[in-house]
Amino acid sequence: MARLASLAVVVASLSSAVAQTFQRLGACPDLGCVLPPDQSDFLPGQYFDLRLEVHAPVNGSEAFNDGKPDESFAVTITKEGEGGGEAKGIAEFFGVAEPELERWDFSWYEDLFARDAGAPSVVNVASKIYRKLALYEPGNYVVTLSYYGDQTTVANWVVRPLATKKKAKNVILFIGDGMTTNMITAARLLGHKSINGKYQSLLQMDKFPVLGHQMTHSIDSFITDSANSASALYTGHKSTVNAMGVYADSSADSFDDPKVETIVELLKRTWDSAWGAVSTAAISDATPIALTGHSRSRYAYGSLVDQGLNSVTNYSWTNHGGPDVWFGGGAEQFYPGSGSYEGKDYYEAFANAGYEISLNKSSLLELGNSSKALGIFCQSHFPVWLDRNVFTDNLAAFKNEPLGSKSPALDLPGLKEMTLKAVDILHTRGGDKGFFLMSEGASIDKQMHALDYDRALGDLLELDDTVRATIEHLKAIGELENTLVLVTADHGHGFDVFGGVDTKYLAEQDTDRKKRKAVGTYELSGLSQYTVPVEGVSYGTGPNFPANWDPRYTLAQGLGGNPDRREDFRLHGSPRRVVSSTPGFAKDDYFVDAGDGADGFVVNGTLSVTESSGVHSLTDVAVFAMGPCQETFGGVYGNVDVFYKIANCLGLARPDDKPGTLPGSGCSTNGTKH
Ligand SMILES: *[C@@H]1O[C@H](CO)[C@@H](O)[C@H](O)[C@H]1NC(C)=O
Ligand SMILES: *[C@@H]1O[C@H](CO)[C@@H](O)[C@H](O)[C@H]1NC(C)=O
Ligand SMILES: *[C@@H]1O[C@H](CO)[C@@H](O)[C@H](O)[C@H]1NC(C)=O
Ligand SMILES: *[C@@H]1O[C@H](CO)[C@@H](O)[C@H](O)[C@H]1NC(C)=O
Ligand SMILES: *[C@@H]1O[C@H](CO)[C@@H](O)[C@H](O)[C@H]1NC(C)=O
Ligand SMILES: *[C@@H]1O[C@H](CO)[C@@H](O)[C@H](O)[C@H]1NC(C)=O
Ligand SMILES: [Zn+2]
Repeated sequence: MARLASLAVVVASLSSAVAQTFQRLGACPDLGCVLPPDQSDFLPGQYFDLRLEVHAPVNGSEAFNDGKPDESFAVTITKEGEGGGEAKGIAEFFGVAEPELERWDFSWYEDLFARDAGAPSVVNVASKIYRKLALYEPGNYVVTLSYYGDQTTVANWVVRPLATKKKAKNVILFIGDGMTTNMITAARLLGHKSINGKYQSLLQMDKFPVLGHQMTHSIDSFITDSANSASALYTGHKSTVNAMGVYADSSADSFDDPKVETIVELLKRTWDSAWGAVSTAAISDATPIALTGHSRSRYAYGSLVDQGLNSVTNYSWTNHGGPDVWFGGGAEQFYPGSGSYEGKDYYEAFANAGYEISLNKSSLLELGNSSKALGIFCQSHFPVWLDRNVFTDNLAAFKNEPLGSKSPALDLPGLKEMTLKAVDILHTRGGDKGFFLMSEGASIDKQMHALDYDRALGDLLELDDTVRATIEHLKAIGELENTLVLVTADHGHGFDVFGGVDTKYLAEQDTDRKKRKAVGTYELSGLSQYTVPVEGVSYGTGPNFPANWDPRYTLAQGLGGNPDRREDFRLHGSPRRVVSSTPGFAKDDYFVDAGDGADGFVVNGTLSVTESSGVHSLTDVAVFAMGPCQETFGGVYGNVDVFYKIANCLGLARPDDKPGTLPGSGCSTNGTKH
């Protein structure tokens, strides 16, 4: 044992030096893993699973113990300070049965050289998982995993002291996917007129009384994706890229990972409130589906939709009751076929569960307020606002109608219609118990990936227009004072505007270097031409949107991380292609697409040449807050704190596993002083 232990010390220091681009397992720098890991926070009474893993690398720089993992590892938990007491085994502490030992192996690349050489390192694993645990008493807890004689991995956990009293009846969480302050600033320039440097009207977001910033890092990488960032907002637990509602373990099964309870699961069992999600993405896409999804893989779309209707069925877990409202795209997961879970018909499954089904805007607007409702309006993600409202001829080219044929979906609602209908249904169904709604403007992100700034900013203006209409509607139905309204994002893209462009001059120059002289910076950037109407041209999109989408003088804009492209800074009549295979280049070596921005100049990228689109960036993102508890959203905090702030306002902390009791017959909360 002594020999083993000293070897282990050397190995441990080696391993943390190696892993960066690739990791053996995120949040697990030692050969022992505790998930939830060190630094995890919990809501009192929030359910979670606890997984322990002991790794024995077979080969590679960490090779250890002939690849034999310690199967007799031990784990204890203790509460620090007063009322703490001695460390106890997990089964004893939580009063649960001792789980079976599990064994598997996995492989990973230690670095890019190992990947190029096709030489993965293999790791054997011994593991146990304790399911559906909860800590009710606020305080600091220490979990200690002991293995290989005298090695230990320690996880310090905090159960936050939080309110059990409900301060807001309703919460509406708007998420502009990928939306940064820079994009908000650019969208304002497109949609709102200014005179001598002063805006004559503002975005609705600009009018929120409280502004905060959230830091979006994943648990094991500083750049996040939309799955684990949504999960952080909904559960108070960080996760790994592509994972939601779980801490990613090293086993191959994407559904056996240790779960954490989400806000809608908590809300259902605590207050029996109504809840819903609305998105211009597929409803199975990360941001909407992370409300109910528990998986290592955001790509398990069919399974995730099943969890959205039926909750997690193959492990003991809480039942969220199914959404009261689900409006979005992603029909492939609903009509029977290869995209739906086990090939089943989910329109039928929802109808059998009592849902009214709507497949177009006309029937959406005719829905009653009292039944549960499923509205799936197209396959995949919605065509963007610009195509739905300005380039409407483009819609005919989509093969996206919601029953799965190759015809186009032409009767599409916008984010505003879906959100307002969702509010009416949730308000009716929630009654005194209130509701939670997440409404997502999804293609801000998706179009920034495509470097199609106009399409991205059009969807940002659609989101803002939706927020504006929702606030007016809440006022009209007498719920504004009872509703915490938040507008935030899950992450950003490195976008900004750095000047203006004379696109006519640019197009007429014959070399790339001359074309770049069309970009005017500082005093040559001029003023926004998007708010100046053109004689005889009407886009018909009303106030708060551009009067002219296609001016000669456009914005010089771009991204901090980009693939090779040809840039012409112009409005793209049809959805933009960034790169596809180019003659003279290998298939996965992307160079500029010959058909994209033919007039433009080549901008060589900064990303790997195997990356065909733009990527997420490091920036903090804004949190706009209004309503009960608004004052708690100022300042700079982590994305998981958004969850704790909402949970605090909804009184979701539990001293036991019983539901909450609303005071009197109704929820007498008209909000806190503000
Ligand atoms: C580890 O072993 C596997 C299986 O034998 C092999 O494919 C792989 O190349 C080895 N990796 C290293 C880093 O030696
Ligand atoms: C557990 O359920 C999910 C659907 O929620 C399914 O995809 C997965 O295959 C199931 N796993 C097992 C081991 O049955
Ligand atoms: C909308 O859906 C309803 C059924 O829900 C159908 O009767 C109607 O024809 C559809 N309208 C259009 C324009 O497709
Ligand atoms: C649904 O609620 C809204 C707002 O209260 C109301 O205007 C509308 O008439 C209701 N619709 C139905 C079908 O009851
Ligand atoms: C961009 O990259 C291509 C391909 O590597 C190269 O041929 C070209 O010279 C580069 N252009 C500029 C403007 O650097
Ligand atoms: C909320 O405030 C309004 C106006 O101040 C009052 O009429 C109403 O009774 C209050 N509602 C509750 C549930 O306290
Ligand atoms: Zn994205």
